[in-house]
Amino acid sequence: MTESLTPAQISELLLLPYLNHAVRMYESGYASRDDIDAGMRFGCGYPAGPLATVDERGVTAVRDGLAARYAETGDHLHQPADLLERLAAEGRGLADEASGGAAEAPRLRHQIAKVGVVGTGTMASGIAQVFAQRGYDVVYVGRGDDKVAGVRAGIEKALDKAVAKGKLDEPGKAEVLARLTGSTSREDLADVDIVVEAIAEELSVKLELFADLDRICKPAAILATTTSSLPITECAKATSRPEMVIGMHFFNPAPVMKLVEVVTTAQTAPEVDETTRALCAEVGKVAVSCSDRSGFIVNALLFPYLNDAVKLHESGVPIETIDAAIKEQAGFPMGPFALLDVVGNDVSLAIQRELHHEFQERGFEPAALLEQVVAEGRLGRKTGQGFHDYA
Ligand code: 3HC
Repeated sequence: MTESLTPAQISELLLLPYLNHAVRMYESGYASRDDIDAGMRFGCGYPAGPLATVDERGVTAVRDGLAARYAETGDHLHQPADLLERLAAEGRGLADEASGGAAEAPRLRHQIAKVGVVGTGTMASGIAQVFAQRGYDVVYVGRGDDKVAGVRAGIEKALDKAVAKGKLDEPGKAEVLARLTGSTSREDLADVDIVVEAIAEELSVKLELFADLDRICKPAAILATTTSSLPITECAKATSRPEMVIGMHFFNPAPVMKLVEVVTTAQTAPEVDETTRALCAEVGKVAVSCSDRSGFIVNALLFPYLNDAVKLHESGVPIETIDAAIKEQAGFPMGPFALLDVVGNDVSLAIQRELHHEFQERGFEPAALLEQVVAEGRLGRKTGQGFHDYA
């Protein structure tokens, strides 16, 4: 029966639980209405945030769509959020809810001139590029000369593309490159004002790094992590300055996606939070605020939807049909399978497992096929094969 679904039906099946989940996130007070919407717009390139979408479609229509689905599945994720029920009964929309007023623009409470980046992967390289392009001196640290050289080559290639498109000239490119210094020694981070780490998503590896950064970096330096799945509170505990530790979760590709989730722990100092948010604005990013919980705002809303897409495919709907339906109907820049392949299926599976563990929702259990493609080494673009073939 799923084989005969129309694009509109496919889109509804995947989007309704996502909208419901966003309403529940707002209802729980985890993040503000504006930050939830900005998160999905600037982190994933969606044309509108989920809460604005609920209002646009009408609270009652969304509630009714979910109620019909819930009657079929009995899955708690499809049961309309209490807030949807209340607003539907009152004939009001989410925009009618109190917003808390416009916040003042954050200011730099610490001087930030030199930035350290640890890691040499896609995210680290993109983050180094972002800061260098916005005029900051950047020291990036990798484990070997070849990896350090790889970051420079990758950034040079990205800048060459910008030159070819007329968005940058050769002297401008040379200036950006001159601001970038690669190193294989963490000791070179001694005088940076902030470090952003983007190394392997393994807690023991991060804890060792944070203890070392604490030893090396000057006392006034902020220590930031771009982890998407590990507890920042634990990283903070590995240092003698937990008040200086914060999350700066960039999105892939970092030079393009405008969002940074600024994640505070119970111990992060308010000035560190403010400086980090101001720094995001300085480098042309949109900062949203949230606390240290698995998935933060965006991944918690995004990955269950991607996982649902894999389950829908398991039930017989072709990958290409789902990708095309989502792009066409929802106006998302990529279909779910194309995006899974960009993020990496191993990364996506790890995130989905964390979310399942944190929220204990039966419906968050990773799709069997996601487990399978990872076991087969079909990790996405980086291995040439994922849900799509890139050979
Ligand atoms: N690096 C640098 N620049 C890139 C790039 C990359 N990897 N990919 C694309 N670009 C640039 C292009 O050069 C182009 O620049 P221009 O506007 O100056 O010419 C611009 O981005 C748009 O690219 P294209 O026209 O080639 O292609 P699209 O219009 O399809 O845009 C996209 C590409 C911006 C990646 C878009 O498809 C998109 O927004 N996709 C959604 C990505 C997403 O959801 N990311 C979040 C993933 S989750 C995550 O990161 C969290 C983590 O914890 C897992």
